[in-house]
Amino acid sequence: MKKTPVAVLVSGNGSNLQALIDACIAPDYPVKIVLVISNKEDAYGLKRAAEAGIAIQVIRHKDFPDREAFDAALHAAIVAGGAELVCLAGFMRILTAGFVGKWEGKMINIHPSLLPSFKGMHTHAEALATGVKIHGCTVHFVVPEMDSGPIVIQAAVPVLPDDTEASLAARVLKAEHQIYPYALRLLASGKLTLKNGRVNKQFQAVQEYILFNPDVRF
Ligand code: GRF
Repeated sequence: MKKTPVAVLVSGNGSNLQALIDACIAPDYPVKIVLVISNKEDAYGLKRAAEAGIAIQVIRHKDFPDREAFDAALHAAIVAGGAELVCLAGFMRILTAGFVGKWEGKMINIHPSLLPSFKGMHTHAEALATGVKIHGCTVHFVVPEMDSGPIVIQAAVPVLPDDTEASLAARVLKAEHQIYPYALRLLASGKLTLKNGRVNKQFQAVQEYILFNPDVRF
């Protein structure tokens, strides 16, 4: 089967990257991760990639005069690596509109909240502070405005009375590891597309199913 070449961008632990790497082991998973890029040389995600035999590249944002120059290097590396799709997996840099435009409909991100609630950092602390009873995670297409792109898929998890930031984060992360590989599978196989800024209709029935069944495995 055709395996779509994908680049994954990380800045830290890379547990979502690991979920994608693990998914790629299945012969019918339509993805080959061809490159993992980090803006931080000490990102543990780089070790995970290297262990899986995936090419790695460090592009330090500090080595560039501005965001445009950094993003140009990022784009060049992704293209040189042969990737056709990009997954942001804990990549902690704001991307320029120019870069995002080049990957419109081809770049997805995983965010640890049910967007549009709790954009940015500290999502679990905010969920606890506001007292929501349902929290979760979102895979969305990337647009220039942070954490705002068209929503692909969400998983909901309960907020329990004794939750701490750490226990809630762990529950959400488990759901992230389920929906991110699933979303990438759909994108790589052409079932998930972005048309006029909206996720295609055929896919929406699946979204609802996942929302109420966060333990579903793919
Ligand atoms: C995840 O919670 C993800 O949603 C957010 O950053 C975190 C990265 O975790 N964007 P990991 O590096 O994948 O373990």
